[in-house]
Amino acid sequence: MKRILLSLTIVASLLLALACQPSGSGGDKVRIGVFMSTTGDTANFGISSVNGIKMAADEVNLAGGINGKQVELLIQDDRSDASEAATIVTKFVTQDQVHAILGEVASSRSIAAAPIAQNAKIPMLTPSSTNPEVTKKGDYIFRSCFIDPVQGAAIAQFGAKSLNAKRAALMVDRKNDYSTGLEKVISEVFTRLGGQVVVTQSYQAGDQDFNAQITSIKGANPDVIFVPGYYGDVALFAKQARDKGITVPLVGGDGWDSPSLYQIGGAALDGCYFSNHYSPDDVDPIVQKFVTDFKTRYGTVPDALAATAYDAARIMFDAIKRANSLDGAAIRQALADTKEFPGVTGKVTFNENRDAVKPIVMVKIEAGGKFVVAERVQVEGAAMPTAATSASPAAAASPAAPATGASPAAKTSPAATKSPAMTTSPAAAKSPVKTATP
Ligand code: PHE
Repeated sequence: MKRILLSLTIVASLLLALACQPSGSGGDKVRIGVFMSTTGDTANFGISSVNGIKMAADEVNLAGGINGKQVELLIQDDRSDASEAATIVTKFVTQDQVHAILGEVASSRSIAAAPIAQNAKIPMLTPSSTNPEVTKKGDYIFRSCFIDPVQGAAIAQFGAKSLNAKRAALMVDRKNDYSTGLEKVISEVFTRLGGQVVVTQSYQAGDQDFNAQITSIKGANPDVIFVPGYYGDVALFAKQARDKGITVPLVGGDGWDSPSLYQIGGAALDGCYFSNHYSPDDVDPIVQKFVTDFKTRYGTVPDALAATAYDAARIMFDAIKRANSLDGAAIRQALADTKEFPGVTGKVTFNENRDAVKPIVMVKIEAGGKFVVAERVQVEGAAMPTAATSASPAAAASPAAPATGASPAAKTSPAATKSPAMTTSPAAAKSPVKTATP
């Protein structure tokens, strides 16, 4: 008898324990699947992004959750591998039964995963994948950043107008959708602006020896080299190019953004430029609060990955709150209805392609690895952030200057007026506001 009672007690407590666990269907929590590269070639992308998302989730949970439900993050490392990204998202929708998905950074990995989220009708939001294909995978796929036709135009315009380059070389990672997409836009726009692409060379992620490409580039005598790639390869290429006597500036895109870029490339990158999503120097109170909170929590200045991921998480939470439901279709609709969400990286309203339209900053790398805003690119339809008036520990001040704007399609801004919030500090270079349209 005693025995039976004992086993009954065990069974009862087991049942009780099970009942208290969040069930496979989500229990009483909002389950968000996060797939990012926290190891592998682009580990910095995933680590920064996860940090931004965790901070956003802790903030919402501390404030009582979403409509009373706590957010549970299911964070998975895809090891910088596209097929692993697809495997993870398959598990998210079949086993973990997540309500929404955040990821990835690299376009190729978002492209690999998006059809799976789309088929399962689980909303997926990428914070930072810029290739247009990502959101073409279906109406459940959103992105809260700008796209490469805009970023590529800004890069090409910077080379042609601001650097006054006439002869460009291109270095492309042929297996990377982001790199090949940017290559196309950069060469089109640079040519349209009167420049000439004199040589195009390719590499593969992880390559260690760029000797052959450098020889060919050097022979073509370019006055700028566009390198639309990711930080690890870019840094190594820069070093080897300088060793071989190439001195012209290298110009790239957001894929350069990582603390590792300068750790690997060092002085080889001095005087080079890349386009990015935000600057920690903007005096906008939203930016400054984020930078301070992030520094308090992690001890480092947040890069663009952290900022875009923090924004994406908050946009998703806001949509779930407005949906007032964990149903995929309801969340999807609420996401689509997002209007002027005040993000750190700009205001987010999704357009008909479920992409965001946001401004771009051109960053200059200065001696010692300082990232300075060289130029702000006004993108049609995007509100400009406030420029900084004082230096931050991470990067020097980004004073602004007259809007002189010119872009492949956009007209020159009418008046060259100085914005009162953008005073020039003597040491820093001027950072004009330019306009760009894809
Ligand atoms: N935009 C890049 C891509 O789509 C990813 C990236 C975003 C990298 C932001 C760094 C910073 O592949």
